[in-house]
Amino acid sequence: MASSRVILVATTNPGKVRELRALLGDTVQWQSLADFPGVTEVEEDGATFAENARKKALGYAQATGLWTLADDSGLVVDALGGAPGVNSARFAGARAQGEDRKTVDRRNMEKLLGLLEGVPREKRTARFVCYLCLASPEEVLLETQGTVEGLIAEEPAGTGGFGYDPVFLVPQLGRTVAQLGEEEKNAISHRGNAMRRLKPLLAELLSALSNKGADRRY
Ligand code: IMP
Repeated sequence: MASSRVILVATTNPGKVRELRALLGDTVQWQSLADFPGVTEVEEDGATFAENARKKALGYAQATGLWTLADDSGLVVDALGGAPGVNSARFAGARAQGEDRKTVDRRNMEKLLGLLEGVPREKRTARFVCYLCLASPEEVLLETQGTVEGLIAEEPAGTGGFGYDPVFLVPQLGRTVAQLGEEEKNAISHRGNAMRRLKPLLAELLSALSNKGADRRY
């Protein structure tokens, strides 16, 4: 039975909300920022993924009064000292007005491949990282993280996914993430792994609250 608890997902991306529903189910009612068009955007200016996820979760929870789940994710490349990291979305410069996401993704991948030119395969190790944070307006309630390990390919391959997926090779599958189906990607992805860790913790939290009855803080 669906609970009456509403959780805001701090994204306007319908794909992320769909992914969450598929992984976490209907134990709560999910809303997204698309349902709150008047809310001011929380800036992602933290130095770490964890900081950004916390800042977004607390910021939107305070703005709406709802429990809020926020994520921050990106690509960490060992040969580049962890770059692009928290700058993954704007690695090759901020998105220009009117510029579509695919063009930004292409610019980012070109910059990445340029920086790694001549770097041998064994030194092209990288991981996608995702931090998730659930917060009430008062405090952080839950945090999880997930990663997926891989190698940066010599050139892009595949048309699925988004961001750096065409250049992120999953060695045990012999394919880039952009060559995987949506379900295959969710099964191994950093975001999928972080959500699978969140699921039992959220169930525990909701059950503790329902056993306690109405909790004044929430
Ligand atoms: P955000 O967490 O949505 O802000 O993601 C930041 C950036 O990290 C994105 O714009 C992408 O460039 C990159 N990124 C995050 N997750 C993925 C993924 O699953 N595949 C490819 N790139 C990703």
